[in-house]
Amino acid sequence: MTVITCIDDLKRIYERRVPRMFFDYAESGSWTEQTFRENTSDFEDIYLRQRVAVDMSGRSTASQMIGQDVAMPVALAPVGLTGMQCADGEIKAARAAEKFGVPFTLSTMSINSIEDVAEATTAPFWFQLYTMRDTDYVSRLIQRAKDAKCSALVITLDLQILGQRHKDLKNGLSAPPKLTPSTIANLMTKWRWGIEMLGAKRRNFGNIVGHVDGISDSKDLGAWTAESFDPTLDWDKVAKIKEEWGGKVILKGILDAEDAKMALKVGADAIIVSNHGGRQLDGAMSSIRALPSILEAVGDQVEVHLDSGIRSGQDILKALAMGASGTYIGRAFVYGLGAMGEAGVTKALEVLHKELDTSMALCGRRRIDELGRDVLLIPEDFEGRWQA
Ligand code: GLV
Repeated sequence: MTVITCIDDLKRIYERRVPRMFFDYAESGSWTEQTFRENTSDFEDIYLRQRVAVDMSGRSTASQMIGQDVAMPVALAPVGLTGMQCADGEIKAARAAEKFGVPFTLSTMSINSIEDVAEATTAPFWFQLYTMRDTDYVSRLIQRAKDAKCSALVITLDLQILGQRHKDLKNGLSAPPKLTPSTIANLMTKWRWGIEMLGAKRRNFGNIVGHVDGISDSKDLGAWTAESFDPTLDWDKVAKIKEEWGGKVILKGILDAEDAKMALKVGADAIIVSNHGGRQLDGAMSSIRALPSILEAVGDQVEVHLDSGIRSGQDILKALAMGASGTYIGRAFVYGLGAMGEAGVTKALEVLHKELDTSMALCGRRRIDELGRDVLLIPEDFEGRWQA
């Protein structure tokens, strides 16, 4: 039995247990994967300042995100097809998040539906919305999220058109998987995944199938997704959705100070500095490198969160110390989920918590609100100097 000590251990087990097409789906960036790679490697350019002989008793990672208490400022990011990584994956991840005391965000492109997750949990979760051409469908999704008592709407702004991930095309990614000879050969080596999946509540997109006319099964879904996302989305539409929702709104996919100012104007409660895990605009800056300029532009007026690239508690500490008030993990929890189901998500959260707590202590800090830039050594040219 492997002793699991880090997120990478979970990733190794995940890779063995989950069909290749779903591993590849999670573990890819778009095109050359430069942004995907730099999201993680750029954290290594920042150093933590070791401080000693500071009383480290009575430590806590508790904090708040959009006014909600969190055991640590780390939410589960919306991840499409989570229920293909593991049977009932969204339910299991949401339960692990609830028990740990961190927010869970359900993707529009999830397998378990809004209602499935609401039924299986008691803590309110967040719902991530993709805006579609079919505005009635969007309104119905918003109403369903309200009925499920979701406590925030996370509107994703960076995926009206899909960045190309080569492997998804080569693998013919679908949910449930299409049975080609190579998929069947791979599935035969993933018997545990298969047996569990046979008993899953759902095997296709639970928020879509049965809720949109003409979509009775998953066969048309790839095409439906490409045709359905609204290419005309603009800030006016974002403001209208915010009004229709009426609750807390988090805008995801902000990577530029000008967009951060626009997000502020429409009244976002928080923004997520994100490049969609390096899955959209390849060649864009990593989230951690984009964070300082966005904080400088709007950091005193709106909560600034960060996703993309976090694989350790040290990464979380760096983002928080730089000035983010919340962070998100996507792949890091998916590895745990694919490796060991709900227990694996819990394990991922425990690993990150321990790393965060211990590293904070070694930096001489006991609480999240004591974190500041003085915890870090940031290279002078970290943000880069760019031509006008
Ligand atoms: C969708 O959000 C994706 O990144 O595949």
